[in-house]
Amino acid sequence: MQTVHTIAELRHALRHAERPAFVPTMGNLHAGHLALVAQARPLGDATVASIFVNRLQFLPHEDFDSYPRTFTADQAKLAAAGCDVLFAPREADLYPEPQTFKVQPDPALADLLEGEFRPGFFTGVATVVMKLFMAVFAGKPQGVAVFGKKDYQQLMVIRGLVRQLALPIDIAGHDTERAADGLALSSRNGYLSEAERAEALQLPLALRVLARDALAAAHALPERLPALEAAAMQQLAARGWQPDYLTVRRRADLLPPQRGDGQGALVALGAARLGGTRLIDNLEI
Ligand code: PAF
Repeated sequence: MQTVHTIAELRHALRHAERPAFVPTMGNLHAGHLALVAQARPLGDATVASIFVNRLQFLPHEDFDSYPRTFTADQAKLAAAGCDVLFAPREADLYPEPQTFKVQPDPALADLLEGEFRPGFFTGVATVVMKLFMAVFAGKPQGVAVFGKKDYQQLMVIRGLVRQLALPIDIAGHDTERAADGLALSSRNGYLSEAERAEALQLPLALRVLARDALAAAHALPERLPALEAAAMQQLAARGWQPDYLTVRRRADLLPPQRGDGQGALVALGAARLGGTRLIDNLEI
């Protein structure tokens, strides 16, 4: 595996590739990231991963400075996973000047849920993903990029970006990888104490209960859902969590379900803080 830092080096490394397969990451790689690489490999003729902790997608009080940076271990994991090129730009390589031109995703999608609790988050994500896409794919007839479904709304934002800007990139989603007990794999799980790690399972459990109750109330979902969501949030709060949202939305646009929206069209999504760690998860219904 070749490791490169600048966009010029990356383009040189990919000069013979006609269909790069790309996995963007912020590093601190776990089995979920490596599953994205495994999915990407047969989809293209060169597999590229990036590691870049993107300052633009963190709010000032968030964990940009403390976000785990484990470059040497990540590099070894990517090489063992069969990645061909690791693009690891320094901040000055990707943002040589203040990034005043930004990619603004549709507020109808980007201001909901994660966007409500992390204002500007999806602008930061869309901007860096656009820059990474240009670095990897410029001049290529077609490419493919793989994103995890744990960041469900992020995947929708990226799909919208590619569709509306007519980028020649296929976007593939990968089902959330989970620990044996069901907790979604996340770099931020590393922040949890042993007791918090055991408690963290309550988030996917709460989503499962909410999904079950929503299906049971499918005949009158728009009327019944607010009480079900409030109960799910209260149950987590009673265990010491600070929930931002636990909700059931339509998969198509992440808006609240309308009459007739039922199984196959819905997704339960949650975000909640446990101690100092904010966890997110979702479950397609
Ligand atoms: O999902 C992530 O790790 C990040 O949001 C991404 C897509 C690499 C952009 O920084």
